Formats: sequence, structure tokens, C-alpha cells
Amino acid sequence: MCKKLPIPDEFIQELKARIIIEDVISSYVRLKKTGRNYMGLCPFHNEKTPSFSVSPENGFFHCFGCGVGGDAITFIRRIENLDYVEAVKLLAGRVGMTVPEDGRDDGMGRLKTRIYEANREAARFYHKQLYTPGGQQALDYLRKRQLSEKTIIHFGLGYSPASRFELVNHLKSKGFSGSEIISANLANQSKKGYPFDRFSDRIMFPIIDLRGNVIAFGGRIMSDIKPKYLNTSDTPVFNKSRNLFALQFAKNKANGQLILVEGYMDVIALHQAGFENAVATLGTALTNEQAMLIKRYCDEVVICYDADEAGQKATQRAIGILRPTGLRVKVLTVPNGKDPDEFIKSYGEQGSARFGMLLEKSGNDIEYRLNKLRSGFNLKSDEQRVEFLNRAAVLMSDIENPVERDIYAAKLSAELNVEKSAFLQIVQRNFRRKENKFKGEEQRRAANELSAVNDRMNTEKRFRLRAASAEEALIAVMILNPDVAIKVVRRVNPELFITSFNRRIYDVLSDRVKNNREITLADISGDFSVDEMNSITRIVISHTRENDPWAAAEKYILMLEDEAQRLTPEQIENSDPEALNEYIKNKLRKMKDKKQ
Ligand code: CTP
Ligand code: MN
Repeated sequence: MCKKLPIPDEFIQELKARIIIEDVISSYVRLKKTGRNYMGLCPFHNEKTPSFSVSPENGFFHCFGCGVGGDAITFIRRIENLDYVEAVKLLAGRVGMTVPEDGRDDGMGRLKTRIYEANREAARFYHKQLYTPGGQQALDYLRKRQLSEKTIIHFGLGYSPASRFELVNHLKSKGFSGSEIISANLANQSKKGYPFDRFSDRIMFPIIDLRGNVIAFGGRIMSDIKPKYLNTSDTPVFNKSRNLFALQFAKNKANGQLILVEGYMDVIALHQAGFENAVATLGTALTNEQAMLIKRYCDEVVICYDADEAGQKATQRAIGILRPTGLRVKVLTVPNGKDPDEFIKSYGEQGSARFGMLLEKSGNDIEYRLNKLRSGFNLKSDEQRVEFLNRAAVLMSDIENPVERDIYAAKLSAELNVEKSAFLQIVQRNFRRKENKFKGEEQRRAANELSAVNDRMNTEKRFRLRAASAEEALIAVMILNPDVAIKVVRRVNPELFITSFNRRIYDVLSDRVKNNREITLADISGDFSVDEMNSITRIVISHTRENDPWAAAEKYILMLEDEAQRLTPEQIENSDPEALNEYIKNKLRKMKDKKQ
């Protein structure tokens, strides 16, 4: 039952002692001290008012909005999308510790490591191909597109040979198994079961994560054959909606601003021209997760999508995703229907300076949307002018800064010859309406998410509310008072726990207590998934310290013994829903009566 911990306890203890949770988290979230805790905007859901709290004293974080929580290790697992061992390694690296090697890798961790290694080897292989006779035309192609030698090396560009077996054979000669190569999505599996190269006769763009791992590839065909790009599908190390192309370079050059473009080639052309803060999505439309990622590295994004209709639609969509994160959003439209890469090239030597000018001129999204809106009206007609102003007022209610609102109101009212104060009044009314709606929505969503999280972890809870509450209270007392935990373990059998999720927590706790191991959240986080840790953190956080913890524990144990007399989960499962509903209603009524 009890699974062997891959990393020794002493190591975790030492790590825990060295980690300062608010330091770890403030690399991702701007934290403000409020009393004993820190507060900030939750990195795991979109919100405008901070409900994410970090407690240095207890060493854990918790979001009152969406319900996520846990210790520093859980935080890193969630935000970096790592498994437990990887998260411990990353944190250990931060404080100058090295995880002992023996037996540390679980199955999934091992496979991931192998995929990283295979990807790295593949990137090296593809790159070398450029300088072989077979890769000559690929190298010519890159040169024709005016990429310098330095750029080709900087981005690690490469070429996948036309024959369908060269990469597979190469990787096999380096000790990778067919199934590892397929798991990395570097090869597909033939009907007969053997692997063959996924990418063939394409220019290869390695996709690299923030820690420098090669996680995927994009491959561009050099002719008009479709698809133009073939990308790595999602693998255990790659999720295309959670990463951005070139973010590993751009994050260090952001200086408060990132440029978001559509294509790999646009990113590369921009970096070569000195705009090293450009990133692109990975063959999909922008996602919320990518928006949150962008938010971690800057305050302002410049969207610079293609000027065609699809690009403009994507721009509107991206604005809608980026703005709610609190980022300042600007839009740069490249003239004459060109994409950034074509634009820069068309000016030769001057390309970089010209793009710099566009960047400076790029309006914020409100200006962009006002211009779009304006073009749909005939402003000579009084009727249409009024209609335009009404629509503009709705649009401007997106601006949170009152000074900024005033500036646009002044501009527009002067242009259209109307009274500024009258126009501003309409804007304000829309703004307040929107704010109220937003607040209501945010609260409702947060409440829903919270209950959804709880339900998912402990599905029996709603049938056994009193029992589950007593179990949770007992668990909280134990985690907060290790001395009481020892007494509880002597007295309480796991069978007394009615809901199986809580019983599992208790199993882990009692197992550790019996072996003289600690049971703080950080100590137990290796035994649970990140979602389970959310629930456990919520349990701990929603119970304040008791004055007499042992007396409290006894009270909860009594409640559990009392509950044990009632319906068992099996009985509940087997009884029909109607009867069950009646039973619960009666119960609730009785509880109410008792309180009065
Ligand atoms: N894309 C994709 N699959 C396709 C086409 C496009 O994944 N079949 C993605 C790629 O990430 C590509 C981006 O969409 O970089 C933009 O596409 P496009 O503008 O057509 O490509 P460019 O990068 O501009 O490439 P090029 O200039 O070489 O045509
Ligand atoms: Mn292009």
C-alpha cells in the first residue's frame, strides 16, 4: 500500500529548510505583503483582484479563488508542469543541492528523461544534416531566406533527410529503443509495427523550453506541398498550448514587453534584426495558458499578426485572451499585407530600423479597435455618428485607467465635435455596468471551481457531509499538531474513516507517524498528486489552530464513531437515489434542529 519514496526524507527535510516559499513563488507571481502573509494574482486562473495567498509561516500557498494550494514543491509541479522528482530537482538546484541519484526515477520520470535525450540527439542530428550533400538544398533555402550562419546556429535549425529511416537508425545506434523514439513522436509506427521518421525532407525548427530542453520540433516543407508545417504532437514532455516558440530567449530580453507573432520564420527574422523579445504560438491559436505565461515575463504585449483577414480575426481573439490577464495590449499592423519577416526583408539594411518605427507607432488595442469600428460608419451622417459614439463608449469601457479613458474621450469628442463630458458619462456608465458584471462572474466562477475541485477529489463527501467534515478536521489537527497526531494514530483505525479519499490521507499520515517521519504538507506532498494536494491544503487552511488540539481531536473521533453507526458507503451505493435524497434531507433537518 505505502509506496516507496523516491527521494530520501532527510534530503526533503534539508531542502525544506533551505527553501523560502515566498522567494520561490515570487519568481512567478508579484507578491505583496499583507500582515503575516503575501497576496498576489493567482497564476492558475484569470483574476483581477488578488485571492492567491502565500503563508511563509506554514510554508504553503492557497488560492481562495480557484482552490489550488500546497507547498513549494506542489507549486513548482503545477506551474512548471513537472512530476514530483523533477520539481524537487528544480528547487534543489535553486538552493545549491543535488538530488541523490540512486533509485530516484519513477517510470514516467524515466521516460521523460529519455525523450529529452532523444530530442536533443535528434536536434543535433538534424542540424548536422545541413552541412552534408543531402542537406545542401536546405541550407541554400535558409540562405535564400536571408538567415545568417549565426542565426541558424542560434536557433539550432536543421534538416530532416528524405529517407524515412535515417533518424530512427541514428537514434537506435545511440541506444534509444523504438518505443522511446515513438513516444517522443520523432517516429511514427508502421502497420507492421516498426518505427519510421515522422519528419522527412523538411527544415527543422527545434522548440526549446525555459530550462533549455528540446521538447518538440516544427518542420517546414520547402515546396508547396501541404501541410506547410508539421509539428510534434503532444508527448509526455510537450503540450503545444503551454509553450511558446523562442520564449527561452525572449524572456531575458523582454524588458517589460514581448512581441507576439504568428510564425516561426517571423520570430527568427525579428530576432536576427535585433528584436529578441519576439515569440510565437506553436501552430495553434493563443490559449489562456500561453497568456498567463506571457504575463509572467512582461507587462505589455504587442500583437503583430499577419495583415490578412485570418490574421485580423486572430488579433481580435488574442486581445480578448490577453486583456483579462491585466497585460497592456498593443497591436502592430504591418503595412501592405506583409508579415513581419517579409517586411523586414523588403527594406534590406533598413529593415530593422523600419520595424522599430512601426513598433513605436503601434497603437494600443483600444486605438486599434476604435479605428476598425470607425471604418464601418459614415460619420457625415448624424445618425451614424451617434451610433458610432455609442459603440465607441462600450468599447472604451474596457479601459480600466480613468486617465486613459479621459484621453480617448477627449480625442474622439474633439474629432466628432461633441461635448466631452456628455460622452464621458456614457463611457462611465458602461464601465460600471461591466465592472459589476465582471465581479459577479468572477465570484460565481471561483465558487464553482472550488466546489468542483472538492467534489472531484472526494466524491463521497456530499453523501457523508458530517463524517467527511469530521475526518477533515481530524486530518487538519494532525498536520498542524504532530504530537497530537501520534496520539490519534494510536487510537484510530483507518477503517473509522468513511470517505475513501480521506482514509487514504489518513493512511499516509499514520504510516509516516509510525515510522517517525514528519507530516507537514511539504513532507507528504510526494505521496499525492497536485490535485490531491489542493484538497489537502484546503483542508488544513480552512481549520484554524485549536486551543486544545487533543480535546478537539477527541471530539472529531467521537463524531466519527457516531457516524460509523449510520449508513455505510456500500449501503449508500446500493440504495436508490430517491431514498438517499430523503435520507439526506432528514439528516440536514435534524442537524438544523440541533443547532436551534
Ligand atoms: N502552422 C502550422 N501548420 C501549418 C501552417 C502553419 O503549424 N500547416 C503554424 C506554424 O507555427 C507557422 C505559423 O503557423 O510558423 C504561421 O504560418 P505561416 O504564416 O504560414 O508560416 P511562416 O512561419 O510565416 O512561414 P513562411 O514564412 O516560411 O511561409
Ligand atoms: Mn512568413
